[in-house]
Amino acid sequence: KQAAVIAPSILSADFARLGEDTARVLAAGGDWVHFDVMDNHYVPNLSIGPMVLSSLRDYGITAPIDVHLMIKPVDELVPAFAKAGASRISFHPEASEHIDRTIGLIHELGCKVGLVFNPATPLSYLDYVMDKLDLILLMSVNPGFGGQKFIPGTLRKIREVRQRIDASGREIRLEVDGGVTADNIGAIAAAGADTFVAGSAIFNTQDYAEVISRMRKAIG
Ligand code: DX5
Ligand code: ZN
Repeated sequence: KQAAVIAPSILSADFARLGEDTARVLAAGGDWVHFDVMDNHYVPNLSIGPMVLSSLRDYGITAPIDVHLMIKPVDELVPAFAKAGASRISFHPEASEHIDRTIGLIHELGCKVGLVFNPATPLSYLDYVMDKLDLILLMSVNPGFGGQKFIPGTLRKIREVRQRIDASGREIRLEVDGGVTADNIGAIAAAGADTFVAGSAIFNTQDYAEVISRMRKAIG
């Protein structure tokens, strides 16, 4: 298993002071910036796009930016995110017409690629592309909003994916997104996750460093 990564989701940051708030959460111990892209079509909400990502790079954010695309179709916007400075781009297989082509496109543009599974999306999407993935992202809420409750059934899915990753012998990150808190992150890590997205649990507090260090202790 790879070193734990905490990826604060800036969906819950202060959008009017996004550069400042992002720099603050990184200084407080966040490893990656989780960047949620919503299109009011694939998910019922609208968030931020490539222009905002490139503004964060211009502002001086150098940490890895972990782009989570909740958009349909996928391919049309991928080049803009790569150009804006994305490090990783993850997409939902149901939102892409040609999953293998989307994976290839993201790699060609020099980004790491992840496949995202909603709570009820079957893992069979992994069967023929596992060898091409850098990351598997398991949603522990239905995508579209921050601040929802962790769906406990995700723990079983995390264990299943951990087994598949270990059996593959490849270095694939196992990321979990939705309802992650300092209280449940220990169980999520024990199930096999190594990369943790947290939005409201971090940004809805005053002291980001305190929550992040509590999370790290719980991961062990
Ligand atoms: C949900 C997003 C998440 C969200 C997580 O659709 O993909 O990344 O920001 O927020 P919390 O941690 O508050 O559940
Ligand atoms: Zn996300």
